[in-house]
This record gives sequence, C-alpha cells and structure tokens, in this order.
Amino acid sequence: MRYCFKARSVLVGISLVAGLAAGAMGVSHAESTPAPAVTDEGKNAMAQLYHEALRPQFHFTAAKNWLNDPNGLVYYKGEYHLFFQHNPSGIDWGNMTWGHAISTDLLHWKQLPNAIEPDQMGTIYSGSAVVDENNTAGFQKGDEKTLVAIYTAAGLPSDISKEPFVQCIATSNDRGRTWAKYEGNPVLPFIVDANRDPKVVWHEPTKKWVMALFLDGCRYGFFSSPDLKQWTLLHDMNVPECGECPDFFEIPLAGANGEKKWVFTAANGRYLVGSFDGQRFTSETPVLQVEYGANCYAVQTYSDIPESDGRRIQIGWMRDGKYPGMPFNQQMSFPCELKLLDTPQGMRLTKTPVREIELLHKEGREWNELALQPGENPLAGLEGELWDIRMEIEPGEATEAGIKIRGQAASYHVKEKTLTCQGSSAPLELSEGRIQLQILVDRASIEVFAKGGQAALSSCFLPPADDQRLELYAVGAPVRVISLEAYPLHSVWP
Ligand code: FRU
Repeated sequence: MRYCFKARSVLVGISLVAGLAAGAMGVSHAESTPAPAVTDEGKNAMAQLYHEALRPQFHFTAAKNWLNDPNGLVYYKGEYHLFFQHNPSGIDWGNMTWGHAISTDLLHWKQLPNAIEPDQMGTIYSGSAVVDENNTAGFQKGDEKTLVAIYTAAGLPSDISKEPFVQCIATSNDRGRTWAKYEGNPVLPFIVDANRDPKVVWHEPTKKWVMALFLDGCRYGFFSSPDLKQWTLLHDMNVPECGECPDFFEIPLAGANGEKKWVFTAANGRYLVGSFDGQRFTSETPVLQVEYGANCYAVQTYSDIPESDGRRIQIGWMRDGKYPGMPFNQQMSFPCELKLLDTPQGMRLTKTPVREIELLHKEGREWNELALQPGENPLAGLEGELWDIRMEIEPGEATEAGIKIRGQAASYHVKEKTLTCQGSSAPLELSEGRIQLQILVDRASIEVFAKGGQAALSSCFLPPADDQRLELYAVGAPVRVISLEAYPLHSVWP
C-alpha cells in the first residue's frame, strides 16, 4: 500500500508539471489555470503551435504529447466534449490521463485542462460520459445537469504490486470544466484480466443505464444500473476478431417508419446490429465492417446529441500515424455521421464526414461529364494540402481508376472489385457501373468514403514536402467522370 501512495504522488506530480509546461508552450486556447508570464520565446512558440509542418489542420490533435482513444464523447448545452487518452508528459503512450477539448462545431477544438488524472487506483483508461438528465446518481447541485464520466482505473504499472483494473465514475456540475471522482469508487469491481473501457447508454423503457464493457479476449459484458453506482451483470457475449472499446447505441433504421435497432461496435469498428430489451442484446447480423483503413481504432459515438439534431456521430483514433519531429503525437479521425440502411444484403451502417466540413470549404472547382483518357490529368495545376474531393465515375472498360494525392493513390480496381488506399482494401461493388467517392485530405491523413459511406478507408501518411499535386487517372481505357468537385479547405487554426 505504501508503494501505491508513493507512485500516486509521482504520477500526480508529473501531470501538474506537464500542465504548466503546456501553458508555457502557449496553449493559448486553454481556458485553464493562470498562465505564467509569457516570454519572447513563449510568444514564438505560440505563433508556431498548430502550424508545424505535419500538424493536422482540421483533425484534432493534443497541443503537446501523446493521445490515443477518444473518450467520454458527450454533448451538453451547445458543446461537444472530446476527452481523450493522453500522456501529458510524454510524446509516447504512458501516464494515461483524460485530456479534454470542447467544440461548438466539431471543427474548431479548444483544449481545456486535463479532466481526470491518475490516482492511487491507477492510470485513467478509456471510457464514456453521459448527461445524468434525471439526476439518477444524485450528484446534481444547482441548475446544471451533472455530467458523469465512467472510466477504467487501470491499476498501477509496477513490478511489485498491481491493483486490479476496475470501473469508476467522476462527475462535473459545471459543464465539464472541473471533475470530482466519486468517493465510493470503484462502482464495478474487478471481474477478469484487464476488463476495461465502459460505454454507458440510457435505456428509456427500463429507465436504467446500460454498460457495455470489454472483458477479455473477444468477450464483452453488458451490465445495468439504476443510478450509475450499482451495476448488475446482464450477460456476456463473444464477438470474433474484436476486442477493447465497445460502443452500444440505438439508431433508426432508415426508411422503416421509425423502427430502431441497437448497434454494438468494437474498437476496430466491426459491428453487430440487433435488438435489446433491457436485459439481453440479440444480434441479427454476422460481424460486419464499414471501416477498412489501416488507421482507425477505438471508435466511439456521442452521447446526448439533442433529438432535434438526431445524428449518431462517431470519432476514432487514427492509430499509428507518424509525426517525426512534432511536439504532438497521433490524431483523431474526422467526425463522421453513422446511419443504418436496409440494403439487399441486410442491415448495414454507413459512415460519412459530418456536414460541418462544408464550413471549411473555400471556393471549389467543378467538372462534369469528362471522358478521362489514360495519361490525362484534369487536376494538373491544382496543388494543396487540405481538400474535400467528391466525385462520381464510371470505370467502363478501364482496369483501374482513381486519384493520387501527393503521390498516394485512392483507387478502384475493377476486376478485383476493391477500393484501395495506402495498402488497405475494401470490397466494393459498382452501383449501376458507377462509383461515388468523398475524400478528406489533411496534412497527415487521407479518409476515403465510398458509395454514401458503405465503405470507408481511413489512413495516415507522411506527405512528401515537395509534392502537393493531385492527379485523376485512368488505366487501360477511358473513364467517364460524371462529376468531380474539389474544394480546398481552410485550416481551423488562425
Ligand atoms: C485501446 C486501449 C483501451 C485502453 C486504452 C489505454 O486503444 O488499449 O483498451 O483503455 O487504449 O490507453
């Protein structure tokens, strides 16, 4: 026990120092602890932060240091909260803490002080957050609803002693600005192995909270609670080729007269669609996949999006991106809207960038009805780092067609019926001989969405400094370009 307390003060010490260092480095947007006096060196650093050569310009990154999973995605009073797995004091994974940022438009993020820091129960692993609308947990003090974060306390990294992984809660009564850990933690004791990543959702018919929790291997558990403090196991479930970070939510089935389905997703984005009666989730599909890219992981959707909006918005961690020489490491995916369609093959999720991307559009270029010959490039002369490109093409007799972005191809291979980007492929049938694509390009990532989001390929890349070209190309035979729109994008950073 003595060892635990010693380790605790070391961890807390590290994160406080890191907080101050972040201030000195000019986290100018942080609504945070008083900043130390800014030196000339500090001012230069401020001017440069967010404009470094590999800094994503419309994807979320931490001002400094490491991030991984999005956590606690919750909307409250006009603000999207994005908590994230963060190492406040290092460029690599470690000292897991919940970093925090907010946005009113899913584009411009303002990083706030870290929300939940390590303690004697361990570092703070992934989890979720909800608005306790009916004050079921009894933490509400004034008029503001309580935000409740449900997270994993991940034991202490030590050879000598290791606390077990347990599930805890923390609450905020000031719109997420400050957080207090519940004194009765843990709310869910150790079950097995490295059980972790609680995702909580309100189930209106039974007036209970429901938690999906990763247990071990490919196994997840479902629990229910009247008050976020006492949890009862409902059942467990094996989901082949999946692990970590479950999400669980209800979504309307498009065109089905208001009928809703429940969707379970895993860290790698694989998902099941089925029904849930408050006791048991029953899958009605095999394990499905919408995301095929190399760099999308730990996906989570927003809780408490108002009914008037009604969207199901998902963010993932673009795992394994490389940012040599940068003060930050790793980025989030662009927020996407999920929909559930009833297709001839069965129920399928689609995933497309949220419409807010259009707020970043600069004046675009548009082409219609081009006959693209092999060797031609209608985009020759266009250069840039940030794009939203939309197109519909008919490959006809061509063997391959696509677009090269700074030398990286997003291509459709006709015989193989695959869409490929950065070495990853998605199976994709043409629709009436055509393929429709939307491609978001940032400094270090390319996200491709095909056929209204029925397949997505999210990938990170290291752009060549001396090549900002775009190339639309056809191989083997002419390709009909029905429409092509290319919008350069504004950076979210002034
Ligand atoms: C997924 C994950 C989670 C865990 C967190 C730790 O990337 O391994 O299971 O909670 O990262 O940072």
